[in-house]
Amino acid sequence: MLDTVAVENYRSLRRLVVPLHRCNVVTGPNGSGKSSLYRALRLLADSARNGAVNALAREGGLSSTMWAGAGGRGPASLKLGFAGEDFGYAVDFGMPVPGRTVFNLDPEIKAEAVWAGPVLRPSALLAERLGPAVRLRDIDDDSAGWRTSPAGLRPFDSMLSEIADPQAAPELLALRERVRSWRFYDHVRTDADAPARRPQIGTRTPVLSHDGADLAAALQTIAEIGDAAAMAEAVDDAFPGSRVEIDCTDARFEVTLRQPGMLRALTAAELSDGTLRYLLWVAALLTPRPAELTVLNEPEASLHPDLLPALAALIARSSQNSQLVVVTHAAALADGLRDRCDVNSIELAKVLGETSIVGQGLLDEPPWHWPARN
Ligand SMILES: Nc1ncnc2c1ncn2[C@@H]1O[C@H](COP(=O)(O)OP(=O)(O)O)[C@@H](O)[C@H]1O
Ligand SMILES: [Mg+2]
Repeated sequence: MLDTVAVENYRSLRRLVVPLHRCNVVTGPNGSGKSSLYRALRLLADSARNGAVNALAREGGLSSTMWAGAGGRGPASLKLGFAGEDFGYAVDFGMPVPGRTVFNLDPEIKAEAVWAGPVLRPSALLAERLGPAVRLRDIDDDSAGWRTSPAGLRPFDSMLSEIADPQAAPELLALRERVRSWRFYDHVRTDADAPARRPQIGTRTPVLSHDGADLAAALQTIAEIGDAAAMAEAVDDAFPGSRVEIDCTDARFEVTLRQPGMLRALTAAELSDGTLRYLLWVAALLTPRPAELTVLNEPEASLHPDLLPALAALIARSSQNSQLVVVTHAAALADGLRDRCDVNSIELAKVLGETSIVGQGLLDEPPWHWPARN
């Protein structure tokens, strides 16, 4: 479980240290920084796949994603990190040295570290980046000596993704696999041409894809090897008397919904946006293979307000199997979650262009240290 997420200089998050519990709900007015926090978490996960540099480029490059407010002088430095009881990780992106490259807008990794326990201290350091090399603590050596890996890291490679030798760096590999397993769902399409509406060749699907194209297979997988009773209950909760049936004619799987009073089941192509969206959440949240961390951005989008209590129940149930961060605009969803589980409420506000956590004093902020640039 993650206990802390820290962000510095990313969009409106000039400096934010967020304490996390099992079930976390992020709220706040428009423009307060909710989506920025969601994207910061996704960038961290991208980092472990070596995708952060590309992800930053898609957002317009480091210069437009860096905090743009007053006091933003000094060398560009966008920092992201997290820590749990066992491990912590942080990365610091900056600009390349001019002249060495023509990719002058591509961010580089200037510092990166993995440590044991909740806070980075010199004695807790397990691995740190030293230019193109990685310094690793020798855990087999009682004198706790250090070794330098020969790997030639390029300035845009994360050490998490490059040091893949399980013998040399078992903790890095374990950490990488954990971060890669984090799951993000953000506005899955439900429009008329949405992939989720089209029949698809079905294969066992324990994890719904990001575009929802494998919805039918994912629901059928839950029916066969997952919590079929929870799925039936979640559907009945939202649409009383209804049940999902997967039509598997010709190996093409299609979602259908059998509703009271209807002569035939409605197919995915005929379902309303809201109904389809809810079924996507059923498939995502009742996954038979829960992730360590699941992050949802505005799950209420395009759902009828009547469905919010059922969605809250579904999300609350999934928090038994996965740590959750739910970013939401909908007070009814946040309240519904607070009624059903022990929620850590994170209310964001923007003050002088800078995102802060409402009610968080300096003393409430979890301790956090960034790795130094070498
Ligand atoms: N580079 C930047 N520096 C400072 N603020 C930024 C930067 N980029 C975007 N913002 C601001 O960040 C705010 C938060 O945006 P966002 O996270 O989308 O808010 P929310 O999801 O809460 O509506 C916006 O008001 C936007 O103006
Ligand atoms: Mg937003």
